[in-house]
Amino acid sequence: MKILVTGGTGFIGSHTVVELQQKGFDVVVVDNFSNSNPEVLDNIEKISGIRPEFEAFDLIDQTRTSAFFKKHYELQGVIHFAAFKAVGESVQKPLTYYRNNLQSLMNILDGMRENNIPNLVFSSSCTVYGQPDDLPVKETSPIKKAWSPYGNTKQISEDIITDTITAYVGIRAIALRYFNPIGAHDSALIGELPLGVPNNLMPFITQTAIGLRPQLSVFGSDYNTHDGTAIRDYIHVVDLAQAHVVAVERMIGKISEKSFEVFNLGTGNGLSVLDVINSFEKTSGQKLNYILVDRRPGDVEQVWADTSFANEVLGWKAVKTVDEMTSSAWNWEQALSKRK
Ligand code: WQD
Repeated sequence: MKILVTGGTGFIGSHTVVELQQKGFDVVVVDNFSNSNPEVLDNIEKISGIRPEFEAFDLIDQTRTSAFFKKHYELQGVIHFAAFKAVGESVQKPLTYYRNNLQSLMNILDGMRENNIPNLVFSSSCTVYGQPDDLPVKETSPIKKAWSPYGNTKQISEDIITDTITAYVGIRAIALRYFNPIGAHDSALIGELPLGVPNNLMPFITQTAIGLRPQLSVFGSDYNTHDGTAIRDYIHVVDLAQAHVVAVERMIGKISEKSFEVFNLGTGNGLSVLDVINSFEKTSGQKLNYILVDRRPGDVEQVWADTSFANEVLGWKAVKTVDEMTSSAWNWEQALSKRK
């Protein structure tokens, strides 16, 4: 059973490749290394003992993508991670985000349709909810206007998928709406590896602690939350990766009659930026140098998941604690610095 993982050398993608391999799936990875590097393939092999098949190209290249799917017509499924994903950056570079995230998805859907490849797991996001009126947010919560071009690309992508499934019988999809994935594999061989200055909180914390960054800026301390900083639902990347395997098995096993399903993947717990910093300082023993600054454009105040649908229907539940997230992230950062 072969599965394509696009963006498979990325943060969530690499962890998902390992989980798929450990469940006996053959994996082929496509990546253009826009936010990762080839060494990730070596480290996946060190963890699982299997080097995934790999092709390097940009999925916005329609000709190249079409040829890839023609060659791999026997694929049983596609897990599509490859996308730009930084909320703050998308506000500054909207056209880059729309072109990359939407064109690559459309090329993949064409490839699946032309070669009768049935199953798609799509990497969606809690940012489709914007700032929810009611919390925790359910899959049936209203999709409000996205607060960032990134979140909008995910909303539009879900519409592209549902319209494609309606038009072309034979494709089924599950959209997984991630909350905030952080942490790293216990081996400290794979983890979050942002190229350049990190946009996301956790890598910025660990890079500050290890001395790569002078100071962390906490974006916003005047939110209407318990400590004034913004709240998110942080989930361990390994818990998240395992949910993808469950989703693939659900579709291959044709367990559901529905051709399109959506699941929130979070822990159900909302934590503030300062809560995460406190956990990091506790688990790492490092005092973090940070300052409180203005809010970041595109950020919502607070969002966390109602995970009951994924728990009951997928039979999946996030189990790792925030301390396991912050300690694994720190172990990964330390291992990285030793390898440089
Ligand atoms: C988290 C909190 C920032 C950096 C992410 C992914 C996105 C989506 C949702 C999957 C916010 C604050 C951050 C910093 C800070 N996930 N922060 N200083 O924006 O919630 O989006 O989760 O699809 O793809 O990017 O995550 O880590 O950027 O921010 O204070 O240097 O940390 O303001 O409150 P975000 P983030």
